[in-house]
Amino acid sequence: MPSIRLCPSILNADYSRLDEEIARVAAGSDYLHLDIMDNIFVPNQTFTWPQSLSIISQSPLPVDAHLMVADPQIQGPLFAEAGCASVTFHFEAANNPRSIISDIRSNGTRVGLAIKPNTDFDQVRDLISEIDMLLVMTVEPGFGGQAFMEEMMPKLSKARSYISTIPTPHPWIQVDGGISPKTISMAAKNGADTFVAGSAVFNADDPLEVLLQLRLLASNSGA
Ligand code: DX5
Ligand code: ZN
Repeated sequence: MPSIRLCPSILNADYSRLDEEIARVAAGSDYLHLDIMDNIFVPNQTFTWPQSLSIISQSPLPVDAHLMVADPQIQGPLFAEAGCASVTFHFEAANNPRSIISDIRSNGTRVGLAIKPNTDFDQVRDLISEIDMLLVMTVEPGFGGQAFMEEMMPKLSKARSYISTIPTPHPWIQVDGGISPKTISMAAKNGADTFVAGSAVFNADDPLEVLLQLRLLASNSGA
């Protein structure tokens, strides 16, 4: 069975009882996906620095931070030092991606590189062997609950084909946006092995049941 990872996003969870929301998905998840938005890189704003610190320090799951911010050279290392297991920044926001990668990694933190729908895989090909995870966005970043962009599948399979040719350990390939029991098999077939799901998990009556379903579907459809 291929090794896959599920990372529920708390973007659309109930913030008034976040601890309970996180606790109810923990048993079925591998990482907690923390979406950080600054209202500059994307037209939306989420968790403040104190809120982020509190989530990171109290999370029963390792935290997978997704920084949708205009200054990843500053925030990347801060989130790594705060104790995240993985920090992903956007290629489109980075002037010097190599220095951000090394600053995050110097803390022992996994490094993810994200690309928006209009960014081609070829633009990041040279960086792939230096990262731990490529995040192929399957929606425009900024909001939960959007429709999965099936047209990202050729990019995903291009990334998977290239990664299969480079020395191991291979970087993981994460997808984020519109992942649900209806779309996860297609993403897995095209090469994703790490899955973010927000509304499909947190809007469900039984989030653990959905996580179990997602894990089975992804494991049975691996590329
Ligand atoms: C969107 C965020 C996602 C979002 C996913 O910009 O990066 O992580 O929470 O939400 P769903 O799964 O509802 O598309
Ligand atoms: Zn995200």
